[in-house]
Amino acid sequence: MVGKSIEFGSLFTMVLQMDNNMNIEYCYKQGSRENALVIKGLNKSFVMGDAEVKALDNINLLIAHNDYIAIMGPSGSGKSTLMNILGCLTTADAGSYLLNGQELATLNDDQLASIRNQYIGFIFQSFNLQSRRTALENVMLPLRFSKVSREEATIKAKALLERVGLAERMEHCPSELSGGQRQRVAIARALINEPTLILADEPTGNLDSNTSEEIMRLFDELHSNGQTIIMVTHEPTIAAHAQLTIQLEDGQIHEISGIHYEETAAITA
Ligand SMILES: Nc1ncnc2c1ncn2[C@@H]1O[C@H](COP(=O)(O)OP(=O)(O)O)[C@@H](O)[C@H]1O
Ligand SMILES: [Mg+2]
Repeated sequence: MVGKSIEFGSLFTMVLQMDNNMNIEYCYKQGSRENALVIKGLNKSFVMGDAEVKALDNINLLIAHNDYIAIMGPSGSGKSTLMNILGCLTTADAGSYLLNGQELATLNDDQLASIRNQYIGFIFQSFNLQSRRTALENVMLPLRFSKVSREEATIKAKALLERVGLAERMEHCPSELSGGQRQRVAIARALINEPTLILADEPTGNLDSNTSEEIMRLFDELHSNGQTIIMVTHEPTIAAHAQLTIQLEDGQIHEISGIHYEETAAITA
C-alpha cells in the first residue's frame, strides 16, 4: 500500500492510498473545511436473473462543503447508482453514508424522503418536470408539504426563476420551453429548499453545447455562492468546470484528478 498526499492550493489535502496495481483503495481529504459527506465502504449489487451485477464496489469518499465534483466513467460504471444513493433515492447494501454528520445508511424510506426534501436538490438529464404545471408551479412543488405558506412559496419560486433567467417564462408549461429553459426550471426547483447538496446526473446530457455552457455558468455561480455540487457528465469540457473529477470504473473509484488545481498541486509525500 502506497500513501500519497496531494495539496490542492490551500483548499484541501487529499490522501490517496494505492495498492500494488495502483488501484485507489481509499481516498480522503483533510482540510480546514467541514465535511459535508463522508462515505465509507459503499456497496450496491443488482440481481438480474441468475447474475449479480456489482454496481458499486467499496466506494470511499469525503466531500467538503462547497466542493465542486464531476463524476465520469463509462456507461454502466455505477455513476447513477452512486448519485441515487447520495440523493437518498435508494440505499446501499452495505457501507456508511454521513450527510452533515448524520448516518443515513440505516434510515427507512420515509426518513430518507425527509432528508432528501430538506438537504438535497436533484437535477436530472431529462429534467423530470411535470408537464401540466407551469414553470412556477414546478418550482413550488417541493414546498407543497412543507410549513412554508403558499404565498411565501410563490415569492421564493419567483425569485429563483428570476435568478436562473426565466422571469419572463414563469407561467409557461414545459412544452412551451426550450431544453435549456426546462433545465433552468429544474435547477430553480432543486434550489427551493436551500439544499446542502446539489446532485446533477448528466444535467447537460440532452442539451447542445452552447446551452450546456449556459447551464454550467449557472452551476459555477451556485458554486461561487457556496453551494456543494456533485455532477455526472460524459463531457470533459463540462467536467472542467468542477474542481475535481472522480473516474468510476466497474463500480470502483479508478482515478481522481484535479483539473483546475493541477498546476498548484504539490505532491508532498
Ligand atoms: N435498477 C437496476 N436493476 C438492475 N441493474 C441495475 C439497476 N440499476 C443499475 N443497474 C446496473 O448497475 C450497473 C451500474 O449502472 P448505473 O449506475 O446506471 O451506471 P452509469 O450511470 O454509470 O451508466 C450497470 O451494470 C447497470 O446495468
Ligand atoms: Mg447513468
